[in-house]
Amino acid sequence: MNRTKQLIDKLEKTSRLTKEEWIALIQDRNQAAAQYLFERARYWQHKYFGNRIYTRGLIEFTNYCKNDCYYCGIRRSNRQAVRYRLTKEQIMECCGSGYELGFRTFVLQGGEDGWFTQEKLLEIVRAIKKEYPDCALTLSLGERSKESYEELFRAGADRYLLRHETADRQHYRRLHPPELSAENRRQCLWDLKEIGYQTGTGFMVGSPGQTPEHLAEDMLFIRELEPHMAGIGPFVPHHETPFSQEAGGTVELTLFMIGLLRVMLPNLLLPATTALGTIDPQGREKGIQAGANVVMPNLSPTSVRKKYELYDNKICTGDEAAECRNCLSKRMKNIGYELVSDRGDYRGRKKEENHV
Ligand code: SAM
Ligand code: FES
Repeated sequence: MNRTKQLIDKLEKTSRLTKEEWIALIQDRNQAAAQYLFERARYWQHKYFGNRIYTRGLIEFTNYCKNDCYYCGIRRSNRQAVRYRLTKEQIMECCGSGYELGFRTFVLQGGEDGWFTQEKLLEIVRAIKKEYPDCALTLSLGERSKESYEELFRAGADRYLLRHETADRQHYRRLHPPELSAENRRQCLWDLKEIGYQTGTGFMVGSPGQTPEHLAEDMLFIRELEPHMAGIGPFVPHHETPFSQEAGGTVELTLFMIGLLRVMLPNLLLPATTALGTIDPQGREKGIQAGANVVMPNLSPTSVRKKYELYDNKICTGDEAAECRNCLSKRMKNIGYELVSDRGDYRGRKKEENHV
């Protein structure tokens, strides 16, 4: 415990560890270390956000994808997937019902679907921002050119989510077909930041072949990028993918990584993900208690929810948006937190507040 505690203290004081230290901390973690970490994580969570949990309304607008990521249930090679696209009108309706429920952030997420051309996407972004100028709009559309990101930003998109998935090149190869590269994905993230998006990255915990060394590289990359958000959740196998027989990520390690991220970058936006809620009925609550401060309820029409099946047994596929929101609100209340409606913009750390 002493060595792991020392490393957590060093992380808290300096916000940095060497690769070797990260590996040691992740490898040698135990229950006592985790309890200590979560206490420190909650200290920073409360300092920056009090007991406020931000909500982002997720609209899964297409499950067509040209990519073939080995872990993903909507990869192009999954012939069993029932494909769908929402129309612009349906997307606007999702925003409308979300707005009524108090959502002030919409996240448009989908596979890399060429049917939605740049023009169509620009039109959708403009329409949402015109109708809901007080809302933040987040895009999660995968890898695009810098020019495309720039145009979408100028059209009004405020934020972009693109998980780097794994910062290790070899491990990236293990998870993706050869036409995708870790370098390109990371370059996209630097482009997004440079353009001015509030940028989110992240990775799966327990993806096939992942080692403490890979997780150490993830932490070093996130420290370097300094994103505004980091979405991490367990890898959960999908029965129609090449990884159907692989073991999934654990709650225990996912929570530990959430705690480390909170202590490393105390004002980071950190979602308690649906994947975490899928592998443990109390997963999202545990995520919040480990330092997370965002939840992302689903605003997609119930008729398509089951079709956006990234992994098996995904939760919240039957509930209306209102039910989802109420359920999360109750869950947060039960553990002493409050779901809030405002945009929950990233607030840069003031120098004097900096713990470093
Ligand atoms: N196409 C966009 C992209 O690539 O960023 C957004 C959609 S993609 C399905 C969103 C995220 O789902 C990915 O970044 C990945 O981390 C996560 N995901 C996909 N398959 C998963 C699985 N089997 N278990 C857990 N998370 C998964
Ligand atoms: Fe494209 Fe998963 S392979 S979204």
